[in-house]
Formats: sequence, C-alpha cells, structure tokens
Amino acid sequence: MPKKQFRELTYVPDSLKGISAKTIDIHHGKLYKGYVDKSNEIGEKLGELRRSGKAEGNQTYSELRGLKLGETFAANGVYLHENYFAILGGDGVPKGEVLKAIEEKFGSFEEFKSYFSACGMAARGWAILAWDMHEQRLMQYNCDAQNHGGVWGCIPIIALDVYEHSYFIDTGSDRKAYIETFFNNLNWDQIEEFYQRAKRGQTE
Ligand SMILES: [Fe+2]
Repeated sequence: MPKKQFRELTYVPDSLKGISAKTIDIHHGKLYKGYVDKSNEIGEKLGELRRSGKAEGNQTYSELRGLKLGETFAANGVYLHENYFAILGGDGVPKGEVLKAIEEKFGSFEEFKSYFSACGMAARGWAILAWDMHEQRLMQYNCDAQNHGGVWGCIPIIALDVYEHSYFIDTGSDRKAYIETFFNNLNWDQIEEFYQRAKRGQTE
C-alpha cells in the first residue's frame, strides 16, 4: 500500500498577503508534515497488529482503539491540509464554473462568502465547501476536529482551517480578519481544477 507523501508548497511562503511565512512554515513544515508522518506510522503499526493476530479491541481502551482514533485524525489531517495549502497562493479573484455553481447555490458570491465565513466562525476545526457525490452538488460542512464532522462521499473543494495555529501569530484572536485574508489569497484556478476533478469523482 503506498505511503502518504509530503507535498511541497507551489508558492513561496512569504508571498501570501496577511499570512506570514512563520505561520506557513510552522503550519505546513511542522504540523502538516506531522500528520503525514504519523499517518504512515499508524498505518505501519496497524499492519503489524493485524498480522500479529493480536488485534483485540476494547472500546474503553485498547491499542487497536488508540490507533484507530489516530488513523482517521491523521488521514483527514493530511487530506484537508493538502487542499488548504493547494488553494492558497492566488489573487483571490473568483472565477470559473465553480463560481457559477457557487452563485447558483448561494445566490451570489458575496452571499456565499458571508455564509462560509460565518461557518468558519462557528467551527472549531474546519469549514469546508465540498462536492457531495451522493447529491451531485456543492455542500458546506463543518468539522470540529479532523475526524469529527466529515461526511463520507464528499470531496473538499475549499477547506478553511480555523484551528488557532492557522492565524494566531498573525491576527491574534481575530479569526474574522484571518478568514478575510484567506479569501484574499485563494487560487481560483486551483479551486476550479478541484471542482472539475470532484465532479468526475476524483480527489486529484
Ligand atoms: Fe491546520
């Protein structure tokens, strides 16, 4: 089974407007990398446990339970951060078929931005615009943790990380200012690509 691979940024960290290189270096180089490494480590340990024939479960505590909890937290940490870092580095000007789909669903881009920003303020982990493969349309979902709130069969198009590590160095407790900054740095060519792939049922 292929291991998860660390993905480099496609832009220079200090090229973002309002999100510092220090924040990106920590967030991408340490935290995201940590999810990749732990995801691989957990995968290896689960494989060993399964092959040992000693994978007995206990729902209060067991090695298997601990690894299983970590497995989904780490895997979603990898996938969501890969979307987050990939869709930054742009000029923030919305465009494409994805913009038309957003306007159809939410009425206008400004209404979407307002609602999505409010969802970001209401979440403890992530606000996500996703392609719901069951419904074949865009849906907005929130996650309070990486493995708490995700909906199966959905592919993230715009994943907004609202954990404090995303913004506290730059805007302190002012998450609203960070969300505005996030929108100002969005790469809508990449978002369009993710949208088109998602409609074909592909994550990448
Ligand atoms: Fe994060």
